[in-house]
Amino acid sequence: MSTFQLTRTLPDDAMAAALRADVMHGLTRTPKELPPKWFYDARGSELFEEITRLPEYYPTRAEREILVARSARIAAETGARTLVELGSGSSEKTRHILDALTELHSYVPVDVSESALTGAAEALLAERPELHVHALIADFTRSLTLPETPGPRLVAFLGGTIGNLLPGERQAFLRSVRAMLSPGDALLLGTDLVKEEAVLVAAYDDAAGVTAEFNRNVLAVINRELGADFPLDDFAHVALWNAEEEWIEMRLRARDAVTVKIRELDLVVSFVAGEEIRTEVSAKFRQEGVRAELAEAGLKMSEWWTDAAGRFALSLSTAV
Ligand code: SAH
Ligand code: TRP
Repeated sequence: MSTFQLTRTLPDDAMAAALRADVMHGLTRTPKELPPKWFYDARGSELFEEITRLPEYYPTRAEREILVARSARIAAETGARTLVELGSGSSEKTRHILDALTELHSYVPVDVSESALTGAAEALLAERPELHVHALIADFTRSLTLPETPGPRLVAFLGGTIGNLLPGERQAFLRSVRAMLSPGDALLLGTDLVKEEAVLVAAYDDAAGVTAEFNRNVLAVINRELGADFPLDDFAHVALWNAEEEWIEMRLRARDAVTVKIRELDLVVSFVAGEEIRTEVSAKFRQEGVRAELAEAGLKMSEWWTDAAGRFALSLSTAV
């Protein structure tokens, strides 16, 4: 018999308080910025799924290609009985790993998006009568208490989402993952790779404008949750390649001067024409860099696999 359990590690009022604090801090500093986790309400999660199907957005297809080719190997090397997945979203690509892990007992998807978690769990449980799903609504940048499930444990962090953390946050995050691993456990990490600028920029600025809508969705979230009056159409979507940092930056640029009221914060925020909010970075990696960052966090990379075109990599690591 399969089972399903949903644990809310973030009570609604704590979520609301975190959003208020992030918006207050981010929109009163110069330059303005907002943390990316607030993109993902139900609509944001839906828009992200749409992004994964865009012709320009290659990372999902590239990562799936690697999973199709390597899941049997991942299963053989890890023998995992529990799969923990951070930022699991729709768990769609994860099915390749789930199918290969013949000894699997529990799947623990972790995400801030409740709608993504419940949607993914429903689809999975319908197909897998023996699986135990313990979904966690949690912020993976904070300390996580995982359910007591049998080892060995495989922690997966796919989609290149690690690139959405800034370098300092990334190191803290990898250390916290290292702390989750016992001997015999492993980390499966998806990283998008440095490549030609035009290909990278197109992936974050698609012709159909889905990514633009996704980017603006963070303003819709603030309007709804904090009683703000951001005029969404007055903010242009900007995606640019920062060659020095080797990351894509996503911004929202005020087309003209605009003043926004955020009722629940008692805050008025003014933008001059052309002023931007940085909403996200998406760092791109090289093998040596990933290996070094893992090593610094006490993790040893044992495998590095890319898709045939060399656009994206999956690596497998264990605690040293
Ligand atoms: N793994 C999926 C989804 C990637 S999109 C894939 O590869 O397609 C990033 C996912 O991480 C979203 O589902 C989002 O809701 C979640 N997320 C973003 N920031 C988070 C955070 N701080 N804590 C937990 N989940 C987060
Ligand atoms: N983890 C995804 C990435 O960096 C998230 C993402 C894709 C994203 N497209 C986006 C985030 C556009 C913000 C805006 O590729």
